[in-house]
Amino acid sequence: MVIASTTDYRAAAQKRLPPFLFHYIDGGAYAEKTLARNVQDLADVALRQRVLKDMSQLNTSTELFGEKLAIPTVLAPVGLTGMYARRGEVQAAQAAAAYGVPFTMSSVSVCPIEEVAPTLSRPMWFQLYVLKDRGFMQNALERAQAAGVSTLVFTVDMPVPGARYRDMHSGMSGPNAALRRYIQAMLHPHWALNVGLLGRPHTLGNISTYKGKNVSLEDYMGYLGSNFDPSISWKDLEWIRDFWKGPMVIKGILDAEDAKDAVRFGADGIIVSNHGGRQLDGVLSSARALPAIADAVKGQIKILVDSGIRNGLDIVRMLALGADCTMIGRAYIYALAAQGGAGVAHLLELLEKEMRVAMTLTSVKNTAEITGDLLVQER
Ligand code: FNR
Ligand code: LAC
Repeated sequence: MVIASTTDYRAAAQKRLPPFLFHYIDGGAYAEKTLARNVQDLADVALRQRVLKDMSQLNTSTELFGEKLAIPTVLAPVGLTGMYARRGEVQAAQAAAAYGVPFTMSSVSVCPIEEVAPTLSRPMWFQLYVLKDRGFMQNALERAQAAGVSTLVFTVDMPVPGARYRDMHSGMSGPNAALRRYIQAMLHPHWALNVGLLGRPHTLGNISTYKGKNVSLEDYMGYLGSNFDPSISWKDLEWIRDFWKGPMVIKGILDAEDAKDAVRFGADGIIVSNHGGRQLDGVLSSARALPAIADAVKGQIKILVDSGIRNGLDIVRMLALGADCTMIGRAYIYALAAQGGAGVAHLLELLEKEMRVAMTLTSVKNTAEITGDLLVQER
């Protein structure tokens, strides 16, 4: 199949992956309303088409926290990336670095920090969750600092994992999960050989390194449920703010009041996000939550946004709605699952091409010119 878009990568990923992995990536919480709205509300954002302004020279790049980004996006933290392609974190991070955008490693990655960071031509970002075992957090921060991680992403919208029905149906969790996953793997021999067998060890790499023994993925959802900490509050973040030397970004803000708290706390940035519709179903899409947050804190803190971005036009839309930068999750994960690092590299090229078309037809020459002026005002 010729791949022209994220939709095509999604279809290719579905063919390649055992269903328990595909549905873990693809699915959301409860009835998946927010998951659908993330994409739909963004697609509904109308831009003003402007023409005849000589758009032969345009620049898609931006600067964030002193780093140059070839396009205003960052690969979002995604758990278990090393299960979607062989040592998937290494492949995705290398593709991102070669293209010119940061990769964010999840706390619950398969490859540990030390396997990925030294192979890259630019610093990576690291995402931290609050685990009940606070020793892990200290250890992860020290290791991230030692590995030259530039930006810390602190995720706050997962004090508990959302209810995801697909995971229970697919064998990701639920009765006879291990047997069902084994049968699915056998029916997907390409994955079984390249990732299932040659991509070992399949552990939570960062947590295994901390514990000094392999933490297996046997009951991943159960692990998240029992180790994530619902007692988290702003106070818990203070020592991290003091410890971490680089920029710190709070991920999972959906409300202007919380955004103002993040400014008061002294964060360098926020990521407006509903975790890709994977947590509380029915909450606002990021595209709809973003303008009020930008009204409240734009200029005081860097505003990143994710959830629902599927193409380069969506990136331009998010900037027009008030973001300084975006993050992509499923879009790059589908590409990685389908074609490894080459898929991620191709996807990033596609996003840039699509951005160029959108910028040409809205007559903006650089990302700083992408503002609310581009939005069609409803009358
Ligand atoms: C995620 N996301 C996520 N976020 C985070 O902070 N730490 C993590 O470990 C994960 N894990 C994870 C796994 C999978 C399979 C997905 C799809 C997502 C959320 C992610 O960073 C991002 O917020 C969303 O993916 C954005 O939505 P889109 O781009 O996927 O629509
Ligand atoms: C998820 C977690 C790991 O969304 O962030 O599945």
